[in-house]
Amino acid sequence: MSAVTVSHNLIGRVLNQDLYSNTGVLLLPKTTVLTENHIRLLRNQQIRSVYVSDEVWSEGDGEAISNQLFGLELDQESVTSYLEAMEDTRRLFESVQLEKMPRLEEFTQAFQRVAVSTEKRMSLFRSLYVLEGADSYTYRHSINVGILSTLIARLLKWKEERTRVMGAAGFLHDIGKMQVPKEILLKPGQLTEQEFNEMKKHTIYGYEMINQMEGSCETLKLCALLHHERLDGSGYPEGRTEEEIPIESQVLAVADIFDAICSDRVYKSRTSPFEAAQQMWKLACDGLISIEIVSVFVHYIAQLYVGSKARLNNGEEVEIILIHKDEPMRPLVRRAQEFIDLRNHRQLMIEKMIG
Ligand SMILES: [Fe+2]
Repeated sequence: MSAVTVSHNLIGRVLNQDLYSNTGVLLLPKTTVLTENHIRLLRNQQIRSVYVSDEVWSEGDGEAISNQLFGLELDQESVTSYLEAMEDTRRLFESVQLEKMPRLEEFTQAFQRVAVSTEKRMSLFRSLYVLEGADSYTYRHSINVGILSTLIARLLKWKEERTRVMGAAGFLHDIGKMQVPKEILLKPGQLTEQEFNEMKKHTIYGYEMINQMEGSCETLKLCALLHHERLDGSGYPEGRTEEEIPIESQVLAVADIFDAICSDRVYKSRTSPFEAAQQMWKLACDGLISIEIVSVFVHYIAQLYVGSKARLNNGEEVEIILIHKDEPMRPLVRRAQEFIDLRNHRQLMIEKMIG
C-alpha cells in the first residue's frame, strides 16, 4: 500500500482505505476503483494524496457477469451460449499464453454457437450493454466484436463465407494481447509511453499467432494486424491510409470502437450505444473511420433499441420510442406520459441503457 498524489494517473487504481472529507463525511469507501469523476471530487475536496492498493487488477472469473445475465429476462439458450463462449474463450486464450497454438477450428467452434444464437434473438445482444463491471473484459470484448463484425458484414450484404470469416476475424482480433505482459494489459491506471508502445505490439503479435494457426487465412491475419489503423494515417502499427487498409479491417475498427465505448472498463464507465454512435459519427466525419460503414451500422443499432429503457444525463429514466432517419442518435423518448424529441433538446443525451 502506498500514498499516491491525486492526479489522472490514479484512474483505475483501487482505494485501500475509506476516504473522508475534512468535515468527516465518507466520500469514497475502501475498494472503490477510481474514475475521472472521483479524481474531480478529490480535487474539489482539496485532498492531495490517497492510499491505493499495489495489486494488479485481475480479469475476474466471470461470476459477476453470469449473475447479471441470469437476472435478466432472456431465454436460457442465449445466456448459456454466451457464458459457455466466455469460458471457452478464456481457456483457449490462456492456452495460447503457454505457447501451444490451438487450430483455427477450435476458436471458431468456441465462437460459432454464440454467434448463431445471437443472430436468432437480438435480445441477448441488446443486453450486452446493460451489463455492469469490467469482469472478464478481454474475453467478452473478443466475443462481442465477433458478433458485431458478423452483423456489419450482414448489413453490407456480404456473402455467407465472407461473413463467417469476418466473425472469426472479430473474435480473434485482440489475441495478440495474450503476449502483452499482464502488468501492462491489466494495469488499472494510465499507461506510460513505453507501456503504450508495448501494448501497440498486440497487433503484430496477433498477426504472428494467427499465422501459426493451422487453417488460418490472410484476412484473419491482416485484421489482427491492421484493426488500429485509421484512414487519415494516425493509427498503428504501420500508419496506413485510406485504401491501403483492407475493408475487413475497417469493419473491425468500427466494431472494436463501438464495443469499447459501450463497455465498463476498470478505468471508465460505459456509455450508451446512442452516445457511442455520436462519438463514432464524429470520428467518421473527422476522416478516421469509414463513414459508409458507420452510417449503416448506426441506423441499424439505434433501431434495435426501440422499446428499451435508458437513463438520460439529467438522471431521468425514459423509454426509446422512435428513431429518426436524419438523426438516429437523438430519438424520440417517453418520460412517464410525456414525449421528448431529443433532436430539440441538444443538452440531453442518452447516458446509459438500463433495460
Ligand atoms: Fe486491439
